[in-house]
Amino acid sequence: MRYTLIIPAAGQGKRMGAGLNKLFLPIASVPLIIHTLRVFEKDEACEQIILAVNADEQPVFERFIKQYDIKKQIVFAIGGQERQDSVYNGLLQAGKASYILVHDGARPFITIEIIQSVLAEAVRKGASICAVPVKDTIKRVEDGSVVETVERSKLWAVQTPQGFHLSTLSEAHEEARKIGYLGTDDASLVERLGKAVGVVSGSYFNIKVTTPDDLVVAESFLARG
Ligand code: CTP
Ligand code: MG
Repeated sequence: MRYTLIIPAAGQGKRMGAGLNKLFLPIASVPLIIHTLRVFEKDEACEQIILAVNADEQPVFERFIKQYDIKKQIVFAIGGQERQDSVYNGLLQAGKASYILVHDGARPFITIEIIQSVLAEAVRKGASICAVPVKDTIKRVEDGSVVETVERSKLWAVQTPQGFHLSTLSEAHEEARKIGYLGTDDASLVERLGKAVGVVSGSYFNIKVTTPDDLVVAESFLARG
């Protein structure tokens, strides 16, 4: 089964605090977004990549894609205010693709194996995510005091890619827009509709590069090979 990939890449990297889109930051001398694109470049099942970017940053992405010789077909979409808007704009470019994978530009350590199992699960169930069991104890805190300790055995840290039948993801996004629902991932929009979302194993290496310490971790992952 082949798929179209949407990569939301239009964030501002506020938590990174680098003063530019974190996807342009080098990891082992290569821009973060290029590491991510290289994985999908190798995946024959990936038919095309839709990259949702801020309009004024598109020339930078284009320059890197050329410089690092990424050959997969890449179509640009306009990034939105929120990640969800960026994915929605990407979805409008998806044409008739039957399956869509959505993957954060900021997760460069994704593997073909995880991509394949997310896709297979999306084909089976209509929607899928990858996730790992939470390692820390999680508590709900309000005004500086603990309100509740959440039972850890039921908690999973959710990653991308997330996979969907095109019609499922389109319906979920349209419905969310209609009522102004904003989710932090795409699967939550599908869950809202009461539809099944399958879960497969992600990886503790599949980090989302978010804060400056993640850059140190990312460098060490690459050094380790
Ligand atoms: N993203 C996007 N459009 C937005 C916000 C985020 O396409 N309006 C993308 C980011 O570029 C990133 C992915 O969604 O690849 C995950 O978002 P996140 O890690 O939160 O990145 P930023 O939004 O850039 O970071 P921050 O929240 O710290 O500003
Ligand atoms: Mg963000």
